[in-house]
Amino acid sequence: MESVEYHQALALLHWQIELGATEAICDAPVNRYEVPAAVEKPKAPKPGAPRIVPMVAGVDAVSEAERAAAGAGTLEELRAAMEAFEHCELKRGARNMVFSDGTPGARVMIVGEAPGRDEDREGKPFVGRAGQLLDKMLAAIDMGRTHETAPVYITNVLPWRPPQNRDPKPDEIAMMKPFLARHIALAKPEVLVIVGNWSAQALLGKRGITRLRGQWTQAQGLPALPMFHPAYLLRSPAFKREAWADLLALKAKLNDG
Ligand code: URA
Repeated sequence: MESVEYHQALALLHWQIELGATEAICDAPVNRYEVPAAVEKPKAPKPGAPRIVPMVAGVDAVSEAERAAAGAGTLEELRAAMEAFEHCELKRGARNMVFSDGTPGARVMIVGEAPGRDEDREGKPFVGRAGQLLDKMLAAIDMGRTHETAPVYITNVLPWRPPQNRDPKPDEIAMMKPFLARHIALAKPEVLVIVGNWSAQALLGKRGITRLRGQWTQAQGLPALPMFHPAYLLRSPAFKREAWADLLALKAKLNDG
């Protein structure tokens, strides 16, 4: 692009914002009217040439993830192992890996689904609108990410944002699950709070959060409480009543323990 001087560039930017642009996704403009170059067809292998077998999605990635996760002896090593894991396509579209927030070693570990736009930008879980609601919910039972006496530790099933916040795919959950399991083992919480359907799928092997919520169960050998996702509560505030009951159940469990 020809160089534009500062005020012209600023005016162009304002104009794009007025048109509704919220995010820059490329460094250079894309001409969508350009005729694409013809795609070359893959050549048939010469007779007798060794066949290249593509990696079977999932299978190798899961054992790779298991190996990498098992080798991590601390949360920092686990973070590094996840940063180095190259089998999950989501990594390529994400700005940042979202590992965790809050207080490692807290009695409560909250497991969300996957980062959204704000989390992807900041590299921390639950920092957008849903996260603000989550913080309010925790504050209502006198808990918080860095609360002096009742802290929580927060992570997600997937550490990279799915494009357009689409649902996680089963193979993505399967390949990141060994890291999540190791994350829980290293963080050593007393109880897990499973927020949302995809977290229930990853940790309990089933969805249907409306039925599952509020019922204590076991996940990764720990007592686990499934709850509505705060993003769902933003869309359906009538269910805050159930969420409040679940928060009280969490508080009661901690007071008993
Ligand atoms: N939703 C989640 O499940 N996790 C986040 O970190 C943000 C939104």
